[in-house]
Amino acid sequence: MKLSVYHTPELAPDEKLPQCAIAVDVLRATTTIATALAAGAEAVQVFSDIQELMQVSEQWSAPLRLRAGERGGSKVEGCDLGNSPLDCTPELMTGKRLFISTTNGTRSLVRIQEAAVVMTAALINRQAVVNYLLATKPETIWIIGSGWEGSYSLEDTVCAGAIAHQLQIQGKLSLSDLAGNDETVAAIALYLQWQDQLLSLLQQASHGQRLLRLDCNEDLIYCAKLDTLDIVPIQQEMGVLVGKSLKQD
Ligand code: MLT
Repeated sequence: MKLSVYHTPELAPDEKLPQCAIAVDVLRATTTIATALAAGAEAVQVFSDIQELMQVSEQWSAPLRLRAGERGGSKVEGCDLGNSPLDCTPELMTGKRLFISTTNGTRSLVRIQEAAVVMTAALINRQAVVNYLLATKPETIWIIGSGWEGSYSLEDTVCAGAIAHQLQIQGKLSLSDLAGNDETVAAIALYLQWQDQLLSLLQQASHGQRLLRLDCNEDLIYCAKLDTLDIVPIQQEMGVLVGKSLKQD
């Protein structure tokens, strides 16, 4: 297994794709996606464009759909939900398809959606993703951070480092065997520095600060927890993710 980390979708090489591509947007899209699927959503369908989301979801039976739209951290008018994972309760999600478009997270998923295997990761499902990777052993893995409008984000990099570090330990892999680029080494170092203060790191991060200004500290507390959900969102068809759990397989 060779793992490469790219801080934003723009930094990932154009001309090739890995065997397994993992999109990360800890604050908050990939945390929300994992939570929705764990809460019983039938699937999550992602869009970079909100108009397209509206058109496609219109063809879905109204009682069986939920529309989530976020721009700049706030809910998009006309959607049922914004992008808070705390809204993804079993009461609301069970049996529904969640149609979602967010500022950055869904854009990074769209960038990698043609890879052989596409999944999403966040801190809350880090161990489930690691278990999946160790069970399936893809030769090449990319972790793509979502960042904020093309720039680096601390929270996505620390999540990439948390995955890489756990893969190293459980897979008994040396750093030079695992790391496909320098960003992977740096992500592990960031995680090792902050592993006991993940909430503080999220509160320090620029998007964390934006969310704090929007009164979303409870979201940050939820997003900063490690390994709380045993679910891996995996792409089943282009842009459509379903939940897998190794314990259920
Ligand atoms: C994004 O996609 O940029 C985020 O998920 C924004 C947010 O926190 O809602």
